[in-house]
Amino acid sequence: MKKVSIIYWSCGGNIEILANMMADSAEEAGADVTLKHVTDATIQDVLDADSVAFGSPAMDEDNIEQQDMQPFLESLRDLPIKNKNCVLFGTHGWIQDTFMKLWAHTMKSYGLNLLGELIVKETPTKEQLEYATILGKKLAQ
Ligand SMILES: Cc1cc2nc3c(=O)[nH]c(=O)nc-3n(C[C@H](O)[C@H](O)[C@H](O)COP(=O)(O)O)c2cc1C
Repeated sequence: MKKVSIIYWSCGGNIEILANMMADSAEEAGADVTLKHVTDATIQDVLDADSVAFGSPAMDEDNIEQQDMQPFLESLRDLPIKNKNCVLFGTHGWIQDTFMKLWAHTMKSYGLNLLGELIVKETPTKEQLEYATILGKKLAQ
């Protein structure tokens, strides 16, 4: 059974919807899923997982959330996570391309193997929710 950790930051609930969708889908596909807001997550949640997903809104211009998510991900930099499968999902109000591009670039530089990215403007559409379930299944494989 694959171990999947889904770690996210959300205040308004948009990211949380995607995180829940991905978690349900990975669980249905047979994975053992840990779903946590980043303030409750530990580095061990990442190290123990076969696949991880990180979710954050765009905040402070072109950045992931800075108070909690940024330091959490920064702390992964020198850990043995090379080639671990990873999905990134983000929501934004106005910035799109640069936000996810920069984030994906950083995560790849840590050695993570990106399985997919989902970027949503505010509330996810039906199609974007479906894509979240596809990514959940990928995490479970
Ligand atoms: C304090 C704050 C700062 C934000 N900064 C940005 C930003 O720099 N760029 C952007 O595209 N959206 C920005 N947004 C919009 C959020 O990314 C967007 O509302 C997102 O869907 C929130 O996700 P959540 O509902 O999971 O909390 C900001 C929102 C807040 C509340």
